[in-house]
Amino acid sequence: METLSSENEAVDQMRTKYLGRKGLVASLFIEMGKVDSGERPKMGKILNELKLELTLEIDRLSQSDISESKTDGWEIDLTLPGDPMPVGSIHPLTQVLEDIKSIFIRLGFSLAYGPEIDTEFYNFEALNIPRHHPARDMQDTFYISDEVLLRTHTSDTQIHFMENHEPPVRIIAPGRVYRNEDVSVRSYCLFHQVEGLYVDSGVTFSELKGTLDYFARELFGKNMKTRFRPSYFPFTEPSAEMDVSCIFCKGKGCSICKKTGWLEILGCGMVDPEVYRSVKYDPDKWTGYAFGLGIERIAMLKYGIQDIRLFYSGDVKFLRQF
Ligand code: DAH
Repeated sequence: METLSSENEAVDQMRTKYLGRKGLVASLFIEMGKVDSGERPKMGKILNELKLELTLEIDRLSQSDISESKTDGWEIDLTLPGDPMPVGSIHPLTQVLEDIKSIFIRLGFSLAYGPEIDTEFYNFEALNIPRHHPARDMQDTFYISDEVLLRTHTSDTQIHFMENHEPPVRIIAPGRVYRNEDVSVRSYCLFHQVEGLYVDSGVTFSELKGTLDYFARELFGKNMKTRFRPSYFPFTEPSAEMDVSCIFCKGKGCSICKKTGWLEILGCGMVDPEVYRSVKYDPDKWTGYAFGLGIERIAMLKYGIQDIRLFYSGDVKFLRQF
């Protein structure tokens, strides 16, 4: 090949230039005659070392030329298939969270974040769940000390936010929460929630219903039906749970919806006046609603995932599907 033979020529020229009979090294040996006889042995030693080094280096260059020239005729074959470069995908929980966020942001909600390590006050007391209240049993808590805990829900962020902002408040607060529960296909010691809070004057329950119904249809499809069932949460009064018509059987009744045709997806209600008192809002002046939903639950329903532990397994075979 032309390139290789011209490289060979260059090495030959280099050898002649430095090491040839009339080359630079030879001319330096001639110069030695002009040096003091006492200095000559030292200079001779240096020149011999130089000659040896150049010889080795030029030999090395010509050797590599020889080995390369054996490949003569086959440069890199661009038609061969390359090594695959695996590309990651967005985790299903992140995808669902992004969908949820974009729906609420379009509705005028902003994002707020609270701490995962919090105190009894924010996680329980300010949310109208005093110490010894039976509602504490609804959520098994990891305590760090008497007062400090891993938050069991994102509702703590309602309190943090209201403490620092005057109404009107319109936020969603996504985040990780922890519960001291046995790990199974249905529950894990940590999971993710999105909290919602809207406080203003004259907010009604029908606004809550309209907003959450719109949300469900944006997330699961326009034909999705919703229903609200009365429920109990200490921080809302009245409280409700919202169901969507079963995604799997389209409301006909199957094993996943336990033949009811409905799947529960979130808890909600009108903010209890006690919560306003704990953040020094005037309960006679302000009204609002709150809601909380589990991201894992929604992702499991949306993608038909049967085992919650898959989300945290880091299993590429699972993750590659999204
Ligand atoms: N914090 C509740 C839970 O983790 C969910 C919830 C229910 C949040 C009703 C709310 C609400 O804001 O109004 O089970």
